[in-house]
This record gives sequence, structure tokens and C-alpha cells, in this order.
Amino acid sequence: MSGATAWNQRYRESDRLWIPDADPSLKDAVAHIAPTDALDLGCGEGRNSLFLARAGFQVTAVDFADVALDRLQAVAGNEGLTIETICEDMFTYLTTAQSFHFVVLANIHPERRERLNLYERLHHIVAPGGWLYIIGHHVDSFGIAGPPNKDLLIDEEEIRAAFNGFLVHTLTKVSDVSDHGHAAPSLVAVLERPIELPT
Ligand SMILES: C[S@@+](CC[C@H](N)C(=O)[O-])C[C@H]1O[C@@H](n2cnc3c(N)ncnc32)[C@H](O)[C@@H]1O
Repeated sequence: MSGATAWNQRYRESDRLWIPDADPSLKDAVAHIAPTDALDLGCGEGRNSLFLARAGFQVTAVDFADVALDRLQAVAGNEGLTIETICEDMFTYLTTAQSFHFVVLANIHPERRERLNLYERLHHIVAPGGWLYIIGHHVDSFGIAGPPNKDLLIDEEEIRAAFNGFLVHTLTKVSDVSDHGHAAPSLVAVLERPIELPT
């Protein structure tokens, strides 16, 4: 079964898979950033995309699960928000995508080799002077919540190494019971791409 088929099946099993509210750390991250063009990779039902659109960002939301994107568009339509949704594998999308000034990668957990490949592509997708927000299950959440495989979990060292040259505004563990329903830590990274990346 392809990743998209499995995710669509998961979405169909319930009316709503994720909570409607955006990640609290995303709200903190954008508090001091003027609305700009934004990309939400693996947006799911769109809680972070919708939050950004409500805040005035021009959002492009990518996911390979059309069931989730339909839910995002239903809410956006009800609220009169315009969000561009793209139903595609993010790895394919990123090979030709334009750059964005705010990029969100929230709760996406491919295996390490693919993840490093994804980070590499993000170097080019985050525009000079743009921002990258990442949240995902920290390795310390292993056995408590999130993917039951350490290779799928992230830590500070991985992010620092992958985004060498970016300015690190936040790189910290958070455990928000109200957001996730458990106290297992997630890693939050808020990074800024300098105008010139070191070679
Ligand atoms: C755990 S959910 C997170 C959804 C959303 N980012 C959030 O935090 O609410 C992961 C989402 O990523 C999507 N996804 C996973 N791998 C993907 C890929 N390679 N290309 C596009 N979407 C992907 C899934 O369909 C799913 O909607």
C-alpha cells in the first residue's frame, strides 16, 4: 500500500484525525513575523495552514492525502480563506517548487535517510531571509508516543547539522499535553536562512 493510500485510509477512519488548533509553538514563532508567503509540507487537515491563513499569510499546503486536503478546503471555504492545496508527494513537489519565506514541517517522520534528503531540499526552498519551522517527535519520546521506531525520531544534533549556516532562534523540547494529549517531548526548531548561506 502506498503512503498516500495508507494515510487516506487513516483519515477516512474518523471525521477528524488531528486537533483543529495550530501547534502552540507555531503561534509563538510567527508572533513577530510579518505575514508572507508560506508553505506547509504534509499539512494534513490543515490546522497550521488555516492558522497561518487567518493570520494573513498566503499559504500553499501540500499533502499526498486528498481526504485531508478536502477537509482543509471545507474549513477554508466556510471562513472565506484562500489556501492553495497541492495533492502530491512532498519529495516530488520539492524538486520543482519555488522558494517560500515561511516553511512549516510539522509532525512529518520519514526514515532518517529520507529526512536528510528532505532537509537538503529545504535549504533551497526556504528563501534567503526566510524562516523554517519544524516540529516533530523527539527521540526522548521513544516508547511514550509517536512512531515506535527510533530511526523516525528527531533530535537537536540532527537539526543543527542539517541546517548549518541557518540562524537558530529556537531549538528546544516542548511537551504540550493540551496539544498532543500526552507529555512526550517534541522538538521545535525555528530557523532563519541568512541572505547568504556559507559555502
Ligand atoms: C502526522 S500528520 C501531520 C499533519 C499536520 N502537519 C499536522 O501537524 O497537523 C502527517 C501528514 O503528512 C502527510 N505526508 C506524509 N508523508 C508525505 C509525503 N511524502 N508527501 C506528502 N504528504 C505526506 C500525511 O498524509 C499526513 O497528512
